Amino acid sequence: MTSRLFDPIRIGEVELPNRLAVAPMCQYSASDGSANDWHLQHLSQLAYSGAGLVMVEATAVERRGRITHGCVGLYTDENEAALRRVLDAARRLGGATRFGVQLAHAGRKASSRKPWDGGAALTEGEDPWQTVSSSAVAFGEDWHVPHALTKEEIAQTVAAFVQAAHRAVRAGFEVIEIHSAHGYLMHEFLSPLVNARKDEYGGSFENRIRFPLEVIRAVRAAVPSHVAVGLRVSATDWVEGGWDLTQTIAYVREAKKLGIAYVCASSGGIRAHVMPPVAPGFQVDFAAEIKASTGVVTRAVGLITDPKQAEQILEEGRADMIALGRAFLDDPRWGWHAADVLGAKTHFPPQYHMARGSNWRKF
Ligand code: FNR
Repeated sequence: MTSRLFDPIRIGEVELPNRLAVAPMCQYSASDGSANDWHLQHLSQLAYSGAGLVMVEATAVERRGRITHGCVGLYTDENEAALRRVLDAARRLGGATRFGVQLAHAGRKASSRKPWDGGAALTEGEDPWQTVSSSAVAFGEDWHVPHALTKEEIAQTVAAFVQAAHRAVRAGFEVIEIHSAHGYLMHEFLSPLVNARKDEYGGSFENRIRFPLEVIRAVRAAVPSHVAVGLRVSATDWVEGGWDLTQTIAYVREAKKLGIAYVCASSGGIRAHVMPPVAPGFQVDFAAEIKASTGVVTRAVGLITDPKQAEQILEEGRADMIALGRAFLDDPRWGWHAADVLGAKTHFPPQYHMARGSNWRKF
């Protein structure tokens, strides 16, 4: 029996041992952007998950681009050394698994509490900071009103992405994913629901994609060709008159010309209190449309929890890769169990061989 999920795949110049990825997931546990022992154990166990690619959480390219005080960053030498230590350990331990990092800027959704503290905007006494966005429009009631970036500040933000990309390469990442989804800074330029600018960064579609494309172009140009640069998109705002699949496809086409190696199709996040129609595989149609229309290697994500479901999406050609988030937090060996179900082989450490397959009964 052959399994599509456990077939190798190439993204850019990076060979991945299979098509299964761990989605980027914030841990809200860093100190001023620096990863620590929490991240070391978290990423090391995911190195043993059976996934071919583990994406490190949204990592802020500047201090004010963190979502919370606990978000990882790559904006200081200390941040770089800390992430390098964690990555070195996870890679040393982790067999064939490859690691990528998601570079991000939280825009107007920055300066907020950790989810387990409620996730609301920080208030006085909690060390809040001035947020930034395409326009001075708050995310929702009781959220900070962001400062609208000037053109000079836009250029500085592009430079911050480039700096962080250099740091990511020095730390040893083979994949860099640019986060233009979920209502964070890049998405705040893309979406007409937020971007009310009157200059060349707002208004028309061409103007709204200008800053995100500047980031993609600059990051791709800054890193060596052996590092794959991918893109995460929200394929829709789930709001009438907002960012939608048609615009997403046109945006991905432009990003493809700039050399992105893959796109991950997520959705939503632009406005507080908008509820997507969440159901198993609810974003897979977006991946399928993007893949069919652009030919870019496409990763599907969102409530994919069952190995056969993942396999079927690939078999039907609706995506090239599958990412899972919460299922890997719940079961960091999800990939081993999926391989068992699909009759495939995956890497596991020899120390654990007594727990696997026919070895189970030999004790
Ligand atoms: C996320 N998600 C997310 N997305 C992203 O692009 N960058 C990030 O850092 C995070 N952080 C994050 C933290 C936690 C705790 C969760 C649960 C989710 C979204 C995530 O990558 C994924 O798209 C969703 O969780 C949907 O996939 P699952 O969980 O249904 O497989």
